[in-house]
Amino acid sequence: MPTPAPLRFGVLGAAKIARSFIAGVSTSELIEVAAVASRDLEKGKAFASELNIPNVHGSYEALLDDATIQAVYVPLPNTLHAEWVIKALDAGKHVLCEKPIAVSSEDARRMYDAARRNQVFLAEAYPYRAQEQTLALQRLLADGAIGRVQTVHACFGVTFTDPANIRLDPDRGGGALLDAGSYAMNFLRMVAGEKPTRVNALARWAESGVDLTVVANLEFASGLLGQITCSFSTAYHRHALIAGSDGILETTFLNSPPEAGPPEIHLRRGIPSSTPRETITVSGKSGFLVEAESFALAIAKGPEHWTGCTEQESVDTIAALEAIARSIRSEKWETV
Ligand SMILES: NC(=O)c1ccc[n+]([C@@H]2O[C@H](COP(=O)([O-])OP(=O)(O)OC[C@H]3O[C@@H](n4cnc5c(N)ncnc54)[C@H](OP(=O)(O)O)[C@@H]3O)[C@@H](O)[C@H]2O)c1
Repeated sequence: MPTPAPLRFGVLGAAKIARSFIAGVSTSELIEVAAVASRDLEKGKAFASELNIPNVHGSYEALLDDATIQAVYVPLPNTLHAEWVIKALDAGKHVLCEKPIAVSSEDARRMYDAARRNQVFLAEAYPYRAQEQTLALQRLLADGAIGRVQTVHACFGVTFTDPANIRLDPDRGGGALLDAGSYAMNFLRMVAGEKPTRVNALARWAESGVDLTVVANLEFASGLLGQITCSFSTAYHRHALIAGSDGILETTFLNSPPEAGPPEIHLRRGIPSSTPRETITVSGKSGFLVEAESFALAIAKGPEHWTGCTEQESVDTIAALEAIARSIRSEKWETV
């Protein structure tokens, strides 16, 4: 089958993460970043010139009115995702929206309803989901490599201190839970194959009022138990441990391969502590590239080409994060 014509993307906002997205997809024959919009035209022009983007719009509305744009990448502050994603979908554009899809499950449902209403494709961006590291892990789980999954721990921590960072601003959807925690929760939801039924959680807080560190316990109808931790005040760490009845799997669930070499998965097939640890080395490319190509192929050839997070996983992930946010305030078990 011939390669489809490149999907013409527009980017809403000269965001930091948009630089990584644009650099990541720059080698793709399936994607063309054709325009960027900034609330500040001069800022948008400087961004476009640096990243070789041919067209600049001085407002997000103008980009959505641009009939040459087929798809929109939304890297706005979390509190603006629902508003601009729905506007883009109503303008007939396909949308790849940065995580978290929204700040509430109600907003997430409205967004997917808008995609259905306009017959366009909406997906939440989690580049790790399109990585071979994650796809290979999913195949091992499906093949029963570690038996029945009993517990999952997923952790993601970094340090942010700049008070101007949107992540430390409660009015722009800041906090470790919606940021790093959305990755850990999405990973746990992916492995569990269902949403948790109830959660309890503890937090430490930043002076700005956002949650700085969160530890949450989660129960699933299948009997699986999970735990996620996320933080904005630790050294960088990102890994997950899946313990099954017959073995364990460990992954760093990375967006893109580490500089030190190809990504790895660690597997032990066996119950005793003497079971050898296998290292499985997998291929890796920019997660932004493999994710955006999967998105473009889903639009050109059909939704089965999308390897990322499904609508149900997106809605369940934010619903679980909402319940965790309730629990860190109530200090009680909360139903998802
Ligand atoms: N997938 C990942 O691993 C990953 C990594 C990093 C970030 N993200 C997500 O990407 C999104 C953006 O993160 P970022 O760090 O790139 O943010 P950022 O650099 O602060 O950029 C956000 C952009 O949003 C626009 N904007 C519109 N209204 C705004 C407002 N009221 N305040 C601030 N900015 C506003 C601005 O563009 P203009 O001024 O040009 O209009 C700004 O450049 C977040 O949802 C975050 O969770 C995902």
